[in-house]
Amino acid sequence: MNNIPQNVSPNASFAVTNPLLPLRAEDLSYAPDGLALLDKVSLQIAEGGISMILGPNGAGKSILMRILHGLIPASAGTVSWRGQTANREIRKRQAMVFQKPVLLRRSVTANLDHALNAAGVPRADRNRRATEALKEAGIAHLAARPARVLSGGEQQRLALARALSLQPDVLFLDEPTASLDPASTAAIEALVLAAERRGCKIVMISHDIHQARRLASEIIFMDRGRIAEQSAAAAFFEAPSSAAARDYLAGRLHLPNGA
Ligand SMILES: Nc1ncnc2c1ncn2[C@@H]1O[C@H](COP(=O)(O)OP(=O)(O)OP(=O)(O)O)[C@@H](O)[C@H]1O
Ligand SMILES: [Mg+2]
Repeated sequence: MNNIPQNVSPNASFAVTNPLLPLRAEDLSYAPDGLALLDKVSLQIAEGGISMILGPNGAGKSILMRILHGLIPASAGTVSWRGQTANREIRKRQAMVFQKPVLLRRSVTANLDHALNAAGVPRADRNRRATEALKEAGIAHLAARPARVLSGGEQQRLALARALSLQPDVLFLDEPTASLDPASTAAIEALVLAAERRGCKIVMISHDIHQARRLASEIIFMDRGRIAEQSAAAAFFEAPSSAAARDYLAGRLHLPNGA
């Protein structure tokens, strides 16, 4: 099927050994009520760099990410992390930021504290980790505010700060800058790149082609529940190999059989 690149990181100058990778998915299907929303999806994600999932609305990107992260079970197929099926330890080393931030009805700091506590971080370290994460995300001034009154962009920053405070080895990001202004988008992108440089593998969904060009080391292009191609980013933007990706980049709806 896909052309799976072996080493796609543009920043390959650093030597990291990510304890979770490679991530392998084999023949993943997701068919609630018999309708195939994912159809035999197979992929491999290597360490280093940012793997960007692109594709039209409804292609199955968020479903695939949820299955990889272990939030919903696949109807068929397997996911393995460095050859191992996910367990509690493996799940604890990953974090995800959702398309719509899910925040607790508590203060900003308490949202971080809750996540750190759930991850088993001792009380003595939690305050420091929370403060650092808020500072890095540029929202230290919002620490005492109820999370639910934050603006959409502030909530997205908080969700990312909370995920990063867990110091995950793999970070899944589902459209983390979808409702952000250009300055906030740049701030989030800087945070994501800094995490990547520290050795955290980033798997990210975006509809922003410019963002994908700026950040991605490889592109996983999805169309109607399948992976149409997986290519190094430079090759993808130079000449995508699938008709679906060519149409997407050209801003055309992809219609089968030339219809
Ligand atoms: N539990 C479910 N039951 C039925 N259909 C579902 C279910 N979950 C998702 N879908 C459908 O599956 C398709 C893929 O959904 P998904 O959220 O993965 O799309 P996406 O690629 O992330 O799109 P977007 O770019 O709009 O976020 C959609 O058509 C959605 O309506
Ligand atoms: Mg989605």
